[in-house]
Amino acid sequence: MITLGEGETPLVRSSQLWRDVGCEELYFKLEGCNPTGSFKDRGMVVAVAKAIEEGSQSIICASTGNTSAAAAAYAAHSAMPSTVLVPKNAVSTGKLAQTRAYGAKVLMIEGNFDNALAVVRALASRHPITLVNSINPYRLEGQKTAAFEVVDELGGSPDLLCIPVGNAGNITAYWKGFGEYYSLGKSKTVPRMMGFQAHGAAPIVLGHPIEKPTTVASAISIGNPASWESATKARDESGGGIYAVDDDEILNAYHSMATLEGIFCEPASAASVAGLMKLSRMGWDLSELRVVCVITGSGLKDPELAAREAKSEIIEVSSRLEDVEAALLNPIT
Ligand code: F0G
Repeated sequence: MITLGEGETPLVRSSQLWRDVGCEELYFKLEGCNPTGSFKDRGMVVAVAKAIEEGSQSIICASTGNTSAAAAAYAAHSAMPSTVLVPKNAVSTGKLAQTRAYGAKVLMIEGNFDNALAVVRALASRHPITLVNSINPYRLEGQKTAAFEVVDELGGSPDLLCIPVGNAGNITAYWKGFGEYYSLGKSKTVPRMMGFQAHGAAPIVLGHPIEKPTTVASAISIGNPASWESATKARDESGGGIYAVDDDEILNAYHSMATLEGIFCEPASAASVAGLMKLSRMGWDLSELRVVCVITGSGLKDPELAAREAKSEIIEVSSRLEDVEAALLNPIT
């Protein structure tokens, strides 16, 4: 019985991009509106509640930043200590600052997310600590509720669901959610699950683990996803696909979301939109399709990248009315 107000996130209809990609209806599920700024809260609240129920004394996870922020927040809310393992130089400053603000013990390791996950798995088997990565089944039980919300709000299932894929828990959870709603008779169809990995971190697309994943989308810089099999099952059962988008495509979608839709998301989240744009470029006929892109996290998570990539200049000017007026009327160069 704990909550920070997670879930019930907005499903926003596209104002401009839908025309560019040529689909009938396009929506964005704004998971960055969750309390810690990412979809992770949906699953973390269940995992932490069950940990408390089971008498656990503390929780641990490996993370590229969002899981650690969510774990730290729900642990703090529940007066429970938390420990997070994060890869060195691979987590955005916003996520790291946030995780520390909630009071988690942060262990920064040499190596990548996959190494960190292997270590926490071993630690959780040796000590009475609850592992709250998405291999914890309660995480997916919470995360599947986003699929319920999409169907409830649209009055049926979308035709395509575009979603970024990292450790592959979320695509697994959405597929479970859509399947359960279908079985309950709450939807007549299920969507084709379209997963997108970053080009430099695309093990599922390539069919083998990647030892040194690299991408601007640090959240999904993962070379050996824990839920690999269930992600390919979601892909195959739904008649969908898992494809790669490169960093330029991700950053292009990141800019487009902010400047054309007013939605500031983190680069990993933009992978879903980059993927849809790519399908459109590849000649997919989307004209009769209702599409939902899952926008997994807030752009505020990665302020350094936002500043580095910003297209709009900061114009310095004195506080004199005439100077400010001149700057206002000057065409932007
Ligand atoms: N988008 C964001 C913003 C994420 O933080 C993640 C994963 C994903 C997409 C991919 O979801 O792993 O279920 O396939 N972030 C994890 C973390 C790995 O540690 O925060 P997935």
